[in-house]
Amino acid sequence: MESPFKPDVLKGKVALITGGGSGIGFEISTQFGKHGASIAIMGRRKQVIDSAVSTLQALGIPAFGIEGDVRKQEDARRVVESTYKHFGRIDILVNAAAGNFLVSAEDLSPNGFRTVIDIDSVGTFTMCHEVLKYLKKGGPGRSSSSGGTILNISATLHYTASWYQIHVSAAKAAVDATTRSLALEWGADYDIRVNGIAPGPISDTPGISKLAPEEIDNKSGDYMPLYKLGEKWDIAMSALYLVSDAGKFINGTTLIVDGGLWLSRPRHLPKEAVKKLSRAVEKRSRKTPVGVPTSKL
Ligand code: COA
Repeated sequence: MESPFKPDVLKGKVALITGGGSGIGFEISTQFGKHGASIAIMGRRKQVIDSAVSTLQALGIPAFGIEGDVRKQEDARRVVESTYKHFGRIDILVNAAAGNFLVSAEDLSPNGFRTVIDIDSVGTFTMCHEVLKYLKKGGPGRSSSSGGTILNISATLHYTASWYQIHVSAAKAAVDATTRSLALEWGADYDIRVNGIAPGPISDTPGISKLAPEEIDNKSGDYMPLYKLGEKWDIAMSALYLVSDAGKFINGTTLIVDGGLWLSRPRHLPKEAVKKLSRAVEKRSRKTPVGVPTSKL
């Protein structure tokens, strides 16, 4: 689908995207690149990064890949420094690296719980922490008046409660708290905007194939208010909005991009049945109000 944004909205910007070699992260890398940004991709798998970088370069996007695990502070520091050395500035950090698997709470080991917290929550904070000096106003390669921006990919699981996702729910709750606290402290001190996106089920991603494997037939989106799954494009467009000047007054927000799924309940009655029933019930209740003794009617 064509982008509604001008192709130069991120012209001259440098974006570092963790988990940027596949899934939602790669679509964000591609769309940011198509809108003028230079892209640094961080990931654990060399093959995935190399192939992502060649695809971006074939589109004419300046791109560069660095292997690293967000769970290791030394990796985070090395990747951030290499990005700065390569492009001479860093304007945008996107934390898209995440870990997930379906498991019941009773079958999840504390180490399994910790692993996802380490990737999603601690990894996000570590990357933010390491990139701070480059994003703050007056930092290397920046003007003294404007800071960069951070975008954390979250989820909606923890808004209510989610089956078999206790580890990710807890991890993303921490990510959202981190988004808000950094927005406050770094917005005030350094002119850095920090926001998040909470995607719903997005087709053709590692997330959906892990959480709704093909053995379970629930990919059609029938259960969703908009009756369809989201596309990676939907998340990338929201990301563009938040990191570009269009979002210049947005700080500390996690934008829900899920077609309304998190606030939905399964439809328990067809619409036609409601029309019929509602009037009939109303008529009956006027004739025989509930709670009024029949002797008084
Ligand atoms: N069910 C239950 N426990 C699981 C599990 C599963 N499907 N997968 C991993 N674990 C547990 C392991 O048993 C281990 O705990 P233990 O030491 O108590 O046995 C712990 O989690 C760590 O697993 P390990 O395989 O050593 O971790 P890793 O660092 O190699 O991989 C993961 C991290 C597990 C998060 C892996 O799924 C991953 O790399 N994910 C990234 C990609 C991804 O998930 N994308 C989707 C984003 S929505």
